[in-house]
Amino acid sequence: MIRLAIIGSTGSIGKQCLEVVDKLGKDKIEIVAMTCGYNLELFKKQIQKYRPEYTASMSDREDISENTNHFTGEGGIKKAIQISDPDYIMMSVSGSIGLKYSLFSLDYCKRLCLANKETIVCGGGYFLNKAKMKKVKILPVDSEHSSIFQTLLGDVKPEEIFLTASGGSLRDKNPEEIQNATVNEVLKHPVWSMGKRITVDSSTMVNKGLEIIEASYLFDFPQEKIKTYICRNSFIHGGVKFIDGSMKFHIGKPDMKLPIAYSLTYPERVVKEEGINNLDELNLNLEKIDIKKYPSLKIAREICGIHSLQIAYNAADEEAVKMFLNNKIKFGQISVIISKTLDRIPELNNLNYNDIFKIENTARILANEVNL
Ligand SMILES: NC(=O)c1ccc[n+]([C@@H]2O[C@H](COP(=O)([O-])OP(=O)(O)OC[C@H]3O[C@@H](n4cnc5c(N)ncnc54)[C@H](OP(=O)(O)O)[C@@H]3O)[C@@H](O)[C@H]2O)c1
Repeated sequence: MIRLAIIGSTGSIGKQCLEVVDKLGKDKIEIVAMTCGYNLELFKKQIQKYRPEYTASMSDREDISENTNHFTGEGGIKKAIQISDPDYIMMSVSGSIGLKYSLFSLDYCKRLCLANKETIVCGGGYFLNKAKMKKVKILPVDSEHSSIFQTLLGDVKPEEIFLTASGGSLRDKNPEEIQNATVNEVLKHPVWSMGKRITVDSSTMVNKGLEIIEASYLFDFPQEKIKTYICRNSFIHGGVKFIDGSMKFHIGKPDMKLPIAYSLTYPERVVKEEGINNLDELNLNLEKIDIKKYPSLKIAREICGIHSLQIAYNAADEEAVKMFLNNKIKFGQISVIISKTLDRIPELNNLNYNDIFKIENTARILANEVNL
């Protein structure tokens, strides 16, 4: 019986994690804690159905449910993690706040199922060293990283890693259309249904940039050997090439429930899914990415491995995406904000906890000060 805490149960990954929990069944998994940000309407329904003993939200409303011990704020979320004594934690919050919860979680779980890619991008070696010291197993939930993890099981270190991208909602637009794309256009993702930030990040390919950095740390691999391609139907999630030229690809339906379930059941495969049936209809075409259309992807490669700049890249993007979603800037200006913020951040490595969050705050302020 797995004792699971879900941090961010009301989000896209959190909700799909609950669907996986339903499939696993009550005899295999128990939700001991569940937390959310501000979506209390959905959270209350989830509590009613799953009845975790401990809950927490960022909202300061305390009248959540009579059947749970409820805490509030960032401290409340940490308290729920600590007091619920979970075996596994699903880290499905969005944004760099995930790093704080992930670091805290290392003291209270055996396995961290990591959807929150910002944990690796902003935590870098500092986070991974701590996880190693505390002997917490990190299971990637990002579909590309889960796929690489799976293709490498029982095999040697590869020569190259492949990550695929759907290309996002603007993949067939010309540069001028991309520059002026509206919020509605950008949020219509052709393949995945995800939270707003990651959907915008798919169209700028900041998401792929974050994933290159994430893969570089998780698999201890130089960014130049992490290749990216567009796979329009997202059936190929990732792959590897070995020294003998042979390659392995991970193929499956574009459904986040797969990597979520794997992170919970590894090394077993327990959840039954139909998968892809008609292989003769399977289109496995990969396309080159036109880097000119995605300036933020080029920036991610340039800063990969420079910890301070990784933090600033993510923070500036989080701020720029908020501005875009509030119609304060054009879509094309997101990459300008990232680039101009990075220009003002020093290149630093070997950072400690305080350094990380100081750089993060500075980058957010600088991002909001950029003259467009
Ligand atoms: N969605 C995907 O398919 C997908 C795929 C791969 C990786 N990821 C990664 O998984 C993470 C989550 O993505 P998502 O798409 O699920 O995001 P999302 O739909 O926006 O959900 C985010 C969750 O985090 C909660 N939250 C937000 N701010 C918080 C805070 N300050 N403190 C505590 N909880 C907070 C939200 O609560 P409320 O909604 O209640 O406010 C919600 O439950 C991201 O790092 C993303 O890059 C997502």
